[in-house]
Amino acid sequence: MKRRTLIKIGAVGVSTLFSPGLMGLARAGGSRDPFRRPFEVPPLDRGERGSEGVRFRFDLKAGESQFFANASTPTLGINGSFLGPTVRVNRGDRVQFEVRNQLKEETTLHWHGLVLPAKMDGGPHQVIAPGKSWVSEYEIVQPASMCWYHSHTHGKTGLQVYKGLAGLFIIDDDQGRDSELPGDYGVDDIPVVIQDRRFNVDGSFNYIKSMPDRMHGIHGSHILVNGVLTPTLKAVRSRLRLRVLNGSNARFYNLAFDDGRPFQVVASDGGFLPQAAGTTHLLLAPGERAEIVVDLSDRKTVVLESVSLSTRSGVQNSMFGGERLSIMRIDASQAELSKESGLIASSLPGWVQSEADGKRDFELEMTMGPQMMMAGITGKDMMKINGRSFDMNVINERVKANSHELWQISNQTMLAHPFHIHNTQFFMMGRSNGWRAAHESGLKDTIVIPSNSVVRVMVPFPEYADANYPYMYHCHILEHEDAGMMGQFTVEA
Ligand code: C2O
Ligand code: CU
Ligand code: CU
Repeated sequence: MKRRTLIKIGAVGVSTLFSPGLMGLARAGGSRDPFRRPFEVPPLDRGERGSEGVRFRFDLKAGESQFFANASTPTLGINGSFLGPTVRVNRGDRVQFEVRNQLKEETTLHWHGLVLPAKMDGGPHQVIAPGKSWVSEYEIVQPASMCWYHSHTHGKTGLQVYKGLAGLFIIDDDQGRDSELPGDYGVDDIPVVIQDRRFNVDGSFNYIKSMPDRMHGIHGSHILVNGVLTPTLKAVRSRLRLRVLNGSNARFYNLAFDDGRPFQVVASDGGFLPQAAGTTHLLLAPGERAEIVVDLSDRKTVVLESVSLSTRSGVQNSMFGGERLSIMRIDASQAELSKESGLIASSLPGWVQSEADGKRDFELEMTMGPQMMMAGITGKDMMKINGRSFDMNVINERVKANSHELWQISNQTMLAHPFHIHNTQFFMMGRSNGWRAAHESGLKDTIVIPSNSVVRVMVPFPEYADANYPYMYHCHILEHEDAGMMGQFTVEA
């Protein structure tokens, strides 16, 4: 069997990525199997169930991680040295997180995809000073889905997430439990957090170093899955559900198997799709999730990779869209045959554009030309929405609780931007280039706005109202967010 054994990197990346440092680390790996490291499953955290609800304790701390045999990397983690546990709760639970900041710097912890009161959201206003803790308490009011959590510190989100402040957040409900989808965590229900990283010769992460890093966001030459470099998963069952999070700061992945086998997409950011969708590839932008079911009853060994983007998506013009790279290997040679079983279907609210309670327009902007060079030194105010860079003291929009609005986001810049809105799961009504990916028939909290296009989304705002605490909307390329491509809105009664 012929396997691709190299992570291939597009020509554009080569000059910056193959610094002498990186070559050093790469050489240490020699010509050995790039998939030699075993797959790791993030530990589950179900909290402590009591009469008051479900309690979690999160310690945010600095540590060291061993991504390479010959170097260690200073990292950040939650109850561990890199990334955090997979939170698992039920719809209807009342949860309480005590988040303790044991770092030497300020941080925050945001619940991405969750519908919750603004004060509990963990955005840039819920700062946790070093040595202090913050309690976030709310009810799980949304259906089965996989969300995530990550740092959202003003101007430092990119760096803190890069170092490891992120983790998964799984919500269960009766429909999900009763379904015939693979559902044994770590056995046939596999979390897959994909992140690309760039390293220095001493093993430390190599974060923003140049103007292009700020412009395009950080793109790394090494792929981590759940914190392990291109690992091998030894499948114990032949039918697998992969819950994929693109937890990268900036890189888009067009997911496919190296033998081109089809798979079923069953869920998006907000939960199950109205109908499972078969496909051979799936574009996932930073912040997006998708659950896919793949059949390996032929007991083959396959590589999950990122392949070039289709020209129809309008995303391929992003500078880093074209390369092919390996993510992980799945060896199904020892897999026990799963019994044939069904998929799942869910119903969605039937939103009609003409019935929106309001309409708003957003224009994503990047500073170009000589001004860009000036801004590039600090990155500050380089990116804007509707002519403004993010300002902690400005509420950009005010919306009504219990309403739904049509938001139209346009992008005339040369890059694609994944647009994310807090406290909601919305529906894409249309994209000007006509493209819709398989998982975009479901509810979303992050949506790709390709270059030179306009996307319309119907956004429901729940009952939580608070005129004093805002939620964020922003580009989920974290370097763009940190450079100001973010705004804030309040939900008011
Ligand atoms: Cu995933 Cu505002 O964040
Ligand atoms: Cu979010
Ligand atoms: Cu962006």
